[in-house]
Amino acid sequence: MQADIARVLISQDRIARRVKELAAQITADYAKRDSHGSGITIVPVMTGALVFCGDLMRQMPIAMKIGLILVSSYPGASVKAQDTQVLSQRLGDLRGRTVLLIDDILDSGGTIKRVVPILKDLGAATVRTCVLLRKDREAAKSVAVDYVGFDIADEFVVGYGLDFNDYYRNLPDIVTLTAEAMEQAAGSESRSSP
Ligand code: IMP
Ligand code: MG
Repeated sequence: MQADIARVLISQDRIARRVKELAAQITADYAKRDSHGSGITIVPVMTGALVFCGDLMRQMPIAMKIGLILVSSYPGASVKAQDTQVLSQRLGDLRGRTVLLIDDILDSGGTIKRVVPILKDLGAATVRTCVLLRKDREAAKSVAVDYVGFDIADEFVVGYGLDFNDYYRNLPDIVTLTAEAMEQAAGSESRSSP
């Protein structure tokens, strides 16, 4: 896998430092604004937000439930967002809850725009949004989110939960891939990658 990496964009150390800052900020905001005590429901968009959410939540010492939503926007070996589809959800009772929606990356904005209304329709009192990465493109910038880890260039990245054709989620750093690696991963058998 190491040979597939073209460039390390954000190292695991930098990610860890930023995740710690984000967790502190989210926790402080929560204490300021929602201190009525029932805690939050954290909702990672599966599968890309799995790793980020796992690290973030363990640094948030507040009462917390987890809801899951599985969304597909980059089916298989594509590097452009297609129509966002909700494949399944297990969100629990969101009525009156403070919800924190977590995604790995804000790109076309389709995922956030699709999922936030679902959470509100289920009765969430407040929905806040947190993305680890935000791409430097108009569509991403035009969607309001509450917390952003890193602003990055408009290029395709993998690692720390982000995939290409469902591979590379387990890389600890956020990286770009070589053209050869992308060709190979695109050709290998895989189901669509939410
Ligand atoms: P959006 O709905 O277009 O904002 O894109 C969000 C989803 O697309 C993310 O949750 C990712 O799963 C996927 N995505 C967007 N950009 C990338 C990328 O550079 N690498 C891997 N996945 C990406
Ligand atoms: Mg995703």
